[in-house]
Amino acid sequence: MPLVTAACLLEHAQANTYAIPSFNFHDLVDLQAIVTAAEAEAAPVILMASEGTIRFAGFPYIEALARVAASQAKVPLALHLDHGRELDNIMKGIRHGFTSVMFDGSHLAYAENVRLTNWVVDVAHRAGISVEGELGQIPGTEDDISVAEQAAGMTDPGLVAEYVERTGVDALAVAIGTAHGLYKGEPQLDFDRLAAIRQAAVIPLVLHGGTGVPDATVRQAINLGICKLNVGTDLRLAYTGSIDQALKEHEINDPRPLLDIAREAVIEVVRDKIRLCGASGQAKAIKAQL
Ligand code: G3H
Ligand code: ZN
Repeated sequence: MPLVTAACLLEHAQANTYAIPSFNFHDLVDLQAIVTAAEAEAAPVILMASEGTIRFAGFPYIEALARVAASQAKVPLALHLDHGRELDNIMKGIRHGFTSVMFDGSHLAYAENVRLTNWVVDVAHRAGISVEGELGQIPGTEDDISVAEQAAGMTDPGLVAEYVERTGVDALAVAIGTAHGLYKGEPQLDFDRLAAIRQAAVIPLVLHGGTGVPDATVRQAINLGICKLNVGTDLRLAYTGSIDQALKEHEINDPRPLLDIAREAVIEVVRDKIRLCGASGQAKAIKAQL
């Protein structure tokens, strides 16, 4: 089946209180792993390419990989540009078959974030593509910021209704205590803030930095309105860690058995996250609605 928009998947997740598992991929191996896991779980998933992946592989390869995956898959898949900051990349993504884009204006002043996000929404909606915006700043764990600094960057619930109305985004990434990369301690999510954001916005909410967030915390976030869980680092760790381990144990000079091992390792991680999101078995109902 063709790629579907993220909005169509998120709408179903929101109506049924689960989250669409959304995974960063970089190449054929992790893409195949994500799709194989999604099929094994009969789950919808969002395939995400970041600007870093676009620099690594280029739009034509990413487009071709995702299109082939979707044409062979029995589960609904969306192709999403993750953390798009360059408008040029957003435009190229739209032209290259992406069915969803994130405009990450979190580094901009509020008014500029609103203005540019609204511009992206206008262009993307005319092309039939959904848009995720970000309000507040989701840090990287490597930024080593203090608790006070992280709190200062969190999404202000008081701005949410206006931001959603003025930008027209289909989904909103929230900064509520998660970070990208590996956590040093257990992440503390601000659930009161999430509940207040949920009150202010009726659109699906997105939790970034899914790696290392305890399962119970993810479940609580889903109950409070998170409809999309982004996971990247966990897949990269499985990919590289399994290859590292295999090379320590065996002398291998053919990449294929190594990449088979990596793919199997990523499949396991992805299946776990799909189950955690409550997305197993949801593909059928979405397909019936298409
Ligand atoms: O946008 C991507 C995600 O937020 C990935 O975060 O690498 O910490 O899992 P993660
Ligand atoms: Zn992210």
